[in-house]
Amino acid sequence: MYRESVLDTRHYTDTLFSFTTTRPPSFRFRSGEFVMIGLETDGKPLLRAYSIASPNWADTLEFFSIKVPNGPLTSRLQKVKEGDEIIMNKKPTGTLVLDALLPGKTLYLISTGTGIAPFASIIRDPETYERYERVILTHSCRWVAELQYGFDLMKVIEEDETLREIVGDRLTHFTSVTREDYIHTGRITKLIDDDTLFKEVGEAPWSPDKDRVMICGSTAMIKDVSEACERHGLVEGSNSRPAHFVVEKAFVG
Ligand code: A2P
Repeated sequence: MYRESVLDTRHYTDTLFSFTTTRPPSFRFRSGEFVMIGLETDGKPLLRAYSIASPNWADTLEFFSIKVPNGPLTSRLQKVKEGDEIIMNKKPTGTLVLDALLPGKTLYLISTGTGIAPFASIIRDPETYERYERVILTHSCRWVAELQYGFDLMKVIEEDETLREIVGDRLTHFTSVTREDYIHTGRITKLIDDDTLFKEVGEAPWSPDKDRVMICGSTAMIKDVSEACERHGLVEGSNSRPAHFVVEKAFVG
């Protein structure tokens, strides 16, 4: 188990926060993977799976978390501050990795809530732009305030000269909310089914010859977006059998 120091925390809403930690020099991961992290309580490790939100070239690690009322880990983790220690398993893993997809033209990253975390890593990885002409990140939440992590992430990319040069105009951030008025309202499944998403980003609906999709959100969201992929003829892939789309649950706890 690694023991790392918290460097910074940021609170977005009363249910969402992010934090950065030191990175062990020997720790390697592929953008989009998750790792077990947590706190030691009474000498025992309390761990949950968290997607790594930072890109694999960064010196620090970043995580984006929900605050679960009375959640065994997050009720304590939300209180960490600079200098506190977190523990981390040595082996990252996951299916939301570029290697689990066949080559294609456009990569869609479909997220709800904290499901944006693995994609925060993938959209900052230069390899993503070597493999795809265009990257479309969708983030849907209940409330507008919950979209803030994604807006800040876009700003980080715009303000980083190297990333800005690599990404150029090839990354599109599409947002929607389901419980208040906004430019796009409705679940991402509805916005896929009625072609709003495709019209807004100026692309034809999904097809297996050009589009690849990664999905991260709740169990129900993954099921429904997977079915939408299948209706467009896309086939689910994995590390050992790359195909057109891959899924992973956004971790909570
Ligand atoms: P809704 O407000 O209609 O439930 P959650 O925090 O529950 O995971 O929800 C995050 C976002 O995902 C919300 O906007 C929610 O919409 C949406 N959502 C929940 N279930 C699904 C689903 N099966 N398919 C698509 N979007 C979903």
